[in-house]
Amino acid sequence: MATLTILSIFIIYIAFVLGLVNSQGLDVEYYKKTCPNVEVIVKKAVADSISSDATMAAPLLRMHFHDCFVRGCDGSVLLNSTKSNQAEKDAIANLSLRGFQVIDAAKSALEKQCPGTVSCADILALAARDAVSLINGPTWKVQLGRRDGRVSILSEATTNLPTPFDNFTTLKTTFGALGLSVKDIVVLSGGHTIGVSHCFSFSSRLYNFTGKGDMDPNMDKNYVVQLKTKCKPNDVTTTVSMDPGSFTKFETDYYTLVSKRRGMFVSDATLLTDKQTRAYVLAQSFNGSTFFQDFGVSMVNMGKIGVLTGKSGEIRKQCAFTN
Ligand code: HEM
Ligand SMILES: *[C@@H]1O[C@H](CO)[C@@H](O)[C@H](O)[C@H]1NC(C)=O
Ligand SMILES: *[C@@H]1O[C@H](CO)[C@@H](O)[C@H](O)[C@H]1NC(C)=O
Ligand SMILES: *[C@@H]1O[C@H](CO)[C@@H](O)[C@H](O)[C@H]1NC(C)=O
Ligand SMILES: *[C@@H]1O[C@H](CO)[C@@H](O)[C@H](O)[C@H]1NC(C)=O
Ligand SMILES: *[C@@H]1O[C@H](CO)[C@@H](O)[C@H](O)[C@H]1NC(C)=O
Repeated sequence: MATLTILSIFIIYIAFVLGLVNSQGLDVEYYKKTCPNVEVIVKKAVADSISSDATMAAPLLRMHFHDCFVRGCDGSVLLNSTKSNQAEKDAIANLSLRGFQVIDAAKSALEKQCPGTVSCADILALAARDAVSLINGPTWKVQLGRRDGRVSILSEATTNLPTPFDNFTTLKTTFGALGLSVKDIVVLSGGHTIGVSHCFSFSSRLYNFTGKGDMDPNMDKNYVVQLKTKCKPNDVTTTVSMDPGSFTKFETDYYTLVSKRRGMFVSDATLLTDKQTRAYVLAQSFNGSTFFQDFGVSMVNMGKIGVLTGKSGEIRKQCAFTN
């Protein structure tokens, strides 16, 4: 009996070592035999895009986040609507996501070298990493082997994504339900060190925070004045950089901004309301930032949300359509 138990523990241990039993079944070397150049090919597509337009890095990072938060990291963010179904992408058009053509370019290059092999979900995960590292950010090993989902539903994007007006309790619930920790919230929010936002995502903080024509008391007054010159009430077209002066460079500034009460969204400002996230924000903005290292870890965590592996899902031929 004892030998049997020891034997089975040993077998399970070996299976783990061989990567046969992995909670998600993802593996950094997943395409080593079937598509050895996958990383080079995706990186080239991302680099081609960013070298002609540095602002493209931000939407590529954000796209993987949106993909993972709605139905898991299954490439559903890329699917076009059908006659019978409005896809996430329609909501995302509203949410101003860009960069679909970069993913399509990577996919078509991959289909030439290793047809029917690399999922769109994995391309998104690689592209997010490459986008960050190409604009001076950290790099990390991307776990691969996700398969693509066959379903994308508009309403799920609106209900499952955090909103810029979320308080900390809400963020904790949303992230927690996906298996992400409080630390992941504060680390991943650091993604806002790059990119832009439309005025409408924060302008109530400037003009009408509680419906009394007031501003958000948790935003620095001078910053409110500055932002008001860029965003007039009800402006739906203007975009503002979230990290003024360096919105195309990935660095630690986000935390300095948040600590000075210059985070763009309520969801950024709210990181000062929780003891743990506040301590993190202040630590990053003072000395010896651990943000770069932490970001890679949290991106890997995010990349595991609800993945399809094994025989689930499919490998799409085109990222905008199911097979
Ligand atoms: C904590 C919850 C989050 C909320 C509420 C949130 C909300 C938003 C909003 C409202 C925008 C601006 C959209 C617009 O008005 O055009 C935005 C932009 C952006 N977000 Fe987040 N976000 C969150 C987390 C994340 C995460 C986890 C990442 C990636 C790790 C991320 C990366 C980005 C990037 C890079 C942009 C700029 C996009 C561009 O320049 O096109 N965000 N986010
Ligand atoms: C798929 O959707 C994108 C944008 O959402 C659009 O630009 C593209 O034309 C669509 N493709 C097809 C074949 O409908
Ligand atoms: C985009 O947002 C507007 C305003 O919230 C809404 O009326 C419209 O239906 C949305 N469009 C899509 C495709 O979700
Ligand atoms: C956070 O927001 C939710 C939803 O809007 C609200 O019900 C809750 O009372 C808020 N919590 C705090 C602590 O403000
Ligand atoms: C502020 O919000 C309140 C409540 O939603 C609304 O009645 C009022 O018209 C708004 N004021 C302005 C200036 O937009
Ligand atoms: C800043 O952090 C570095 C590395 O973590 C440490 O060696 C150094 O003593 C710290 N300096 C201050 C002023 O805390």
